[in-house]
Amino acid sequence: MLHHSFVEADIWQEHKCVLDSCRYLSTQGFEVTYLPVMPNGLISLSDLRAALRPDTSVVSVMMVNNEIGVIQPMAEISETLKAYAKENKTTKAFFHTDAAQALGKIPIDVEEMGIDAMSLSGHKIYGPKGVGAAYVRRRPRVRIEPLIHGGGQERGLRSGTVPSSLVVGLGEACRIAKREMAADHERVKGLANRLIKGITSEVDHIVRNGDPNGYPGCVNLSFAYVEGESLLMALKVSYHLLSYFINC
Ligand SMILES: Cc1ncc(COP(=O)(O)O)c(C=O)c1O
Repeated sequence: MLHHSFVEADIWQEHKCVLDSCRYLSTQGFEVTYLPVMPNGLISLSDLRAALRPDTSVVSVMMVNNEIGVIQPMAEISETLKAYAKENKTTKAFFHTDAAQALGKIPIDVEEMGIDAMSLSGHKIYGPKGVGAAYVRRRPRVRIEPLIHGGGQERGLRSGTVPSSLVVGLGEACRIAKREMAADHERVKGLANRLIKGITSEVDHIVRNGDPNGYPGCVNLSFAYVEGESLLMALKVSYHLLSYFINC
């Protein structure tokens, strides 16, 4: 059977971890369709609708983009998949989201958003490195092939003994992130506005990229007529604070 997998992506969209997985899947007989995004960085629901096929098995759309901060319309994407399946009397494609940059930054509700599978990473919320979480819907059931075989832990999803200290660390980081999310959002918004105001009051020809309703902590600016690398050198600021293209 020829499977058809499908991910939304262009140069701004989807982290390499998803893109590389798609590249691997395409060597295994899956056909991958990459969707472009609109100038504001959001996915076009009509483009999505047009690209769906009866054999589309997975649609993966990142919840919050790590470079421009756009928040993709999760519930609308899920509704589009449901409507397509209903109209075409096919099985609904599974909806996966890479929510690594959404965790602790925006409220996540897998029911409201219609998410079937979701990947999360601990260190994005100051949890321990080396631990993350996968949400896999039970009803309707999502069957996932394990990558690691062995003792059948985690309902056969991920064999191997779970590192309890890392798991506790992730849980605690989630608890704190949830408690502080609203206050942190306001603090980050204030800092972002200050940064943007400071830069745009000094320099002309600057465009802020991404939908204005995105996560404020990602400030992505285009400086016309200046090459990225020389701009960073001129700013004499640590590369940990600024990056001119790819940041994780
Ligand atoms: C959107 C997004 N997805 C996935 C990852 C990868 O997470 P990890 O470092 O846990 O593999 C990152 C950052 O590294 C990210 O920003």
